[in-house]
Amino acid sequence: MIPVKALITGSSGFVAGHLADYLYRSNGEIYGLSWEGGGAGGKFKKVYVADVRDEHKIKEILNEIRPDYVYHLAGVSSVGRSWKNLRETLEVNMFGALSILAGVCELGLPCRVLIVGSAEEYGITGAHPVEEDHPLHPVSPYGLSKMAQELLARQYVSAYGVDAVLVRPFNHIGPGQSPDFVVSDFARQVARIEKGLQEPVLEVGNLDVIRDFTDVRDVVRAYAELMQHGKAGEVYNVCAGSGVSIRAVLDILISLSGREISVRIDERKLRPVENPVLVGSNEKICRAAGWRPQIAMAESLAGVLNHWRKNV
Ligand code: GDD
Repeated sequence: MIPVKALITGSSGFVAGHLADYLYRSNGEIYGLSWEGGGAGGKFKKVYVADVRDEHKIKEILNEIRPDYVYHLAGVSSVGRSWKNLRETLEVNMFGALSILAGVCELGLPCRVLIVGSAEEYGITGAHPVEEDHPLHPVSPYGLSKMAQELLARQYVSAYGVDAVLVRPFNHIGPGQSPDFVVSDFARQVARIEKGLQEPVLEVGNLDVIRDFTDVRDVVRAYAELMQHGKAGEVYNVCAGSGVSIRAVLDILISLSGREISVRIDERKLRPVENPVLVGSNEKICRAAGWRPQIAMAESLAGVLNHWRKNV
């Protein structure tokens, strides 16, 4: 049997590592693409080094691999940083997707593409849980870049018949995530405090917001399931369907430590504007792919804290 070929862009990233672990178990042939090289130990048959904005180079790579599936994970992923990094966020997220879509289209590859958008595309929703047909009014440069990327992908589906499935993941967490993101940031600080590397004061941003968290291992399973069962041009939320405040996340992490830890607001972590509540409906993906998250939040948080206990 000819092995299924999957290309994961952004292969040195957090989600890509977990996706490669997942796909590797099904004996697929996995290729990576990363601007800095590298990718989850030994799972990739080959990792190509290229900038996703380089349309010509990306087309060459696509032609060499001729993948059956492209998981387009490459992109700028931090909402917080996107405020200071507008041009790079817009360029990488929009023109990166353009390189993949144009390459697949011009080469006429019989290949399915997963375009990874974001819950940030919704902006301030008012409605909870938010469904996929809710209007998009992103309030961050990052959200705008992901909306642009999604609209571009839809045009490639409707105008040229490119087989692209679209996802809007909500917050995801797990071992190996960068401390740019809230759970990893807090867990790292707790681990540093436990080791006496930081005074027992945890620096935080806005604790009042509510977010919908899913373990990254459930997220990558959703992506793989949608590659099989999703419909071209359709968009699917990937989320738990329930919200938790950042304050509650912080409390759980501190209680897992059992230390006396106080909290201080770091003004630099506050954002100019953000959605107070971002909770998604996962009914559509449940119906289409039979997917439901399986890993409980408490287990994910303990896993992230244990990861940092070994890595600070
Ligand atoms: N990073 C961080 N650090 N965020 C904090 C902190 C802190 O110390 N304190 C409070 N927060 C709040 C942020 O203001 C935000 O409301 C929430 O915690 C989550 O922040 P992040 O973990 O940075 O994630 P995000 O919600 O901005 O974006 C994530 O989710 C999107 C989907 O909803 C990322 O994974 C994106 O790539 C993803 O698209």
